[in-house]
Amino acid sequence: MSVYAAILMVGAGSLLAAGEEGGLLVHAPAGSIRGVPAPDGDYVMFLGIPYARVNASNPFGAAIPHEKFDKTFEASTESAVCPQMKKIFTNRNSDRYDGTLDCLRLNVFVPKTETKHRGVYIFVFGGKFVEGDSKLSSYGPKYLVRHDIIVVTFNFRSGPYGFMCADIPEIPGNQAGRDQYAAIEWVRDNIRAFGGDPGRLTLGGHSSGAQLVDMHLLTERPRLFRRAILQSGTTLGPDFLGPSDPMALVDIAGTLGFETNDTSAALSFLAEASPEAVVEATVKYEWRPCVEKKFPGVVPFVAENPEFSEGRNVDGLDILGGFTDREYAFTWYFSDYRHLYREPDSFRYTLEQKFNLWDESDLVDIVRRFYVDDDGDRDIVKDDTVDLLSDFAYAYPMQRQLMKYAKHPNSSVYLYVFSYDGCRNRMKIIFNITDTGATHSDELGYMFTMDLIPEMDDSRDRRMIDRLTTLWANFVKYGEPTPARTALLPVVWPPLTADTVPALRLDADLTVISRPLRSRMAFWDLFYDAHLDKLRY
Ligand SMILES: *[C@@H]1O[C@H](CO)[C@@H](O)[C@H](O)[C@H]1NC(C)=O
Ligand SMILES: *[C@@H]1O[C@H](CO)[C@@H](O)[C@H](O)[C@H]1NC(C)=O
Ligand SMILES: *[C@@H]1O[C@H](CO)[C@@H](O)[C@H](O)[C@H]1NC(C)=O
Ligand SMILES: *[C@@H]1O[C@H](CO)[C@@H](O)[C@H](O)[C@H]1NC(C)=O
Repeated sequence: MSVYAAILMVGAGSLLAAGEEGGLLVHAPAGSIRGVPAPDGDYVMFLGIPYARVNASNPFGAAIPHEKFDKTFEASTESAVCPQMKKIFTNRNSDRYDGTLDCLRLNVFVPKTETKHRGVYIFVFGGKFVEGDSKLSSYGPKYLVRHDIIVVTFNFRSGPYGFMCADIPEIPGNQAGRDQYAAIEWVRDNIRAFGGDPGRLTLGGHSSGAQLVDMHLLTERPRLFRRAILQSGTTLGPDFLGPSDPMALVDIAGTLGFETNDTSAALSFLAEASPEAVVEATVKYEWRPCVEKKFPGVVPFVAENPEFSEGRNVDGLDILGGFTDREYAFTWYFSDYRHLYREPDSFRYTLEQKFNLWDESDLVDIVRRFYVDDDGDRDIVKDDTVDLLSDFAYAYPMQRQLMKYAKHPNSSVYLYVFSYDGCRNRMKIIFNITDTGATHSDELGYMFTMDLIPEMDDSRDRRMIDRLTTLWANFVKYGEPTPARTALLPVVWPPLTADTVPALRLDADLTVISRPLRSRMAFWDLFYDAHLDKLRY
């Protein structure tokens, strides 16, 4: 009998005991776990369950499996946060450290219904590979669990602890992906005890979280989930890959006052150093996934540039993905990005995130002229630049990747464009953005409750919440977002085919459109085909 089969039997046995204490106490293969009733709906919250342990001797490398609980685990407090600088959106100078290495924890949200084999939606938060957490204050599941699915959110390491690529077998890179894999394994092995169906897991994410979900489609490891949701992020995005850095350990140790040229001495020193010191010493670093060097006995997460990957884990996978209509509209309001408009070389800077164009001034000009007219009018340049940045970072990589995936056998691939403009558009609220349309992360306000956005009873917004969460939950349950026409969802959202690219526009109305941004996407098709030999990594 395989280990997996044995685990399934244990899981099935424990199902009999599920639901004790009104659903608060479950007996899972990981041990007994007691949750707490949700304050805002008919569901139970199991908070802060440890799914793995960071190795104290090597906090940058593989996590250690968590031992079985010997007494009931009280899952009543929110997950700790992994080490990071918490961004204060409105004033970067007041960013502050938060976190602990005892952070590999997950939350399980279970509706109080009799259903035994629910679809499970595992959500991966975004945060540019350096920050983020799974707290209720950012990702409250109330709107999603109403649809009788289980929602799982979890922490994983980011920054130096999650993305150091040191080119050694102990720190091969992409540790965050390995943490995530461990979390998904935990869900597969334990979710039956919560009334979930381990054969119906959906892994979804937003922004860098979506990029990491896409990363799971490229790994050689067996795929543990049946469906994937990619919101505004794929591995083809220009900010996905970065270089490896064999000197990282030695350099960071040096910054903290320990001069050495020996990698293992630096690792021992940094393992003892406080995570706060390590994070603060590396705030200037750009942490990203990397193409791993191959080592015997180490299964790589990213083995090649995703542009050349066949997507070996895509066969038989259902995928839902898309972007917002004005992804980059926030840049104008965000000091970190304002330089993109001012600097004469901002177009070069943008393109060079993905392509080496150092002797290609003509090419940069062609891109500039495709998007921006000769007219120097500030508002027009601004809108045109938003289009360029949005296409290059989000819309084109998403469409390119989904069209590639749609060619796989037995895969249904659904594309959306979110353009709704309401009172819960997340980024627009953070920055008081008055542009029309939807900018990056705006759709999250219609998926999750969050402290940032007070709940107001607005009937338009309420309908968008109902629509978006019903579409997503249908996909989690059935693998298709519109299995039947209803008053709420009076559309049929067709998947991509070899020669058609339909998309659902999520706005005040739901509309099926064809080939969003057709001519702009064709421009990038030609650009990519001509310059794939110039990829940076
Ligand atoms: C923890 O990391 C150290 C240093 O890399 C390694 O020697 C050890 O085997 C690791 N422990 C486990 C349980 O993997
Ligand atoms: C590290 O190597 C450099 C160059 O070889 C040398 O100058 C330096 O003294 C070495 N540092 C230590 C701490 O050994
Ligand atoms: C596609 O689905 C059919 C029927 O379920 C199955 O027999 C076949 O192996 C699948 N092919 C792939 C490549 O997944
Ligand atoms: C947004 O507007 C509100 C009310 O006008 C103001 O209190 C807040 O400081 C503004 N936020 C930003 C980031 O400008």
